[in-house]
Amino acid sequence: MHNGQPLVYLDGPAGTQVPESVADRIRECLIHHNANRAGKFITSNEVDDLMDQAHRAAADLLQVDEPKSIAFGPNMTTLTLAFSRALARTWAPGDEILVSNLDHDANYTPWVLAAKDAGALVRTIAICPSDATLDMQSLESQLSSRTKLVAVTAASNAVGSLTDIPAIAKLVHRSGGELFVDAVHYAPHRRIDVQSWDCDYLVCSAYKFFGPHIGILYGRPERMQSLEPYKLRPSPDSIPGRWMTGTQNHACIAGLTAAIDYIASLADMEPNSTQDSSRRAKLDRAFDWIDRVETELIQHLLAGLQGMQGVKVYGITDPQRAKLRAPTVAFCIDGVDSASAATKLAQAGICAWHGNYYALPLTLALGTEPHGMVRIGCMHYNTSEEIDRTLEAIRKIVR
Ligand SMILES: Cc1ncc(COP(=O)(O)O)c(C=O)c1O
Repeated sequence: MHNGQPLVYLDGPAGTQVPESVADRIRECLIHHNANRAGKFITSNEVDDLMDQAHRAAADLLQVDEPKSIAFGPNMTTLTLAFSRALARTWAPGDEILVSNLDHDANYTPWVLAAKDAGALVRTIAICPSDATLDMQSLESQLSSRTKLVAVTAASNAVGSLTDIPAIAKLVHRSGGELFVDAVHYAPHRRIDVQSWDCDYLVCSAYKFFGPHIGILYGRPERMQSLEPYKLRPSPDSIPGRWMTGTQNHACIAGLTAAIDYIASLADMEPNSTQDSSRRAKLDRAFDWIDRVETELIQHLLAGLQGMQGVKVYGITDPQRAKLRAPTVAFCIDGVDSASAATKLAQAGICAWHGNYYALPLTLALGTEPHGMVRIGCMHYNTSEEIDRTLEAIRKIVR
């Protein structure tokens, strides 16, 4: 409650709400299984077990065969900065790296910095400005046998546009390069499928899908084994330990398992729930349900915003193309900068973001710097009534 009314959490793209089961698992770990790893005693064995469980849970979430091909770390940005350094050791002058204007800066600047150190050239994939989607022609025309890596998002954390990762992977592999996917914004909304996507690397972050602050990095097992990480001598040289620098946040990694179990439990919301009770099958059904709930919310929100004079929505607005976007909407209001609009929404009990949310390549490409856009991010826990309240508050700001 805030100022006598229930808070509306539309700030999920910057961090979702967390179920009690996740907080309970973290507490349980700290109180009952608090030790460092690889000891001979019981609490250390328990931590080893809960780490194995987390690798298996993350493998179910990403649809990966080998749980050891997944490393954990503090967050996506730190993992990507470290991994980009290691990957750049395999690049040389004359090599080319492609980043995109649809991305969060965490999947842009690490590659620019790594390329600079290796003497490689960075090219930028453009967006289609009319609907803020990735320009596939721009991608295709810049791929060549010199391309070592393409780094691209699965979903924009600003305007919600999804990209066609399987199609991108085909193009990239045809030219001999590798694909690094940022699935941070995608993860709470749709089912990730590393195997059918055929990407080489993928990152996401548990605090964006109802968990604690833990980053997740997947890499093809043979690459995770053969690339040379920056690591200490006594730390493991096998996967996944060679990529997990320092002592890990065991309690929050246990919380990550609980977050994935929470998503799987949403399978019970599906009316046609089948009997397959494996976690992967439950995640399939849970994401079908999430997709349906969120599609209704986004249609409602977009219809309301489009009826308002003086409001400009960026990204896909056509209801027929709703499947091509996440339920995340960025917009500007004539004559009101995004910080002032977010302040007014906050006074109405609505948590919404403003500025560029680090999607700087995109806000520069859209020309919305320095003030950025207001961002409303729906999650499955939001309701139609909350969208009504939000639309009413925006109408007042416009008036
Ligand atoms: C699309 C996207 N990529 C990357 C990041 C960075 O993630 P982290 O905070 O885990 O470093 C964010 C965070 O907002 C994001 O939305």
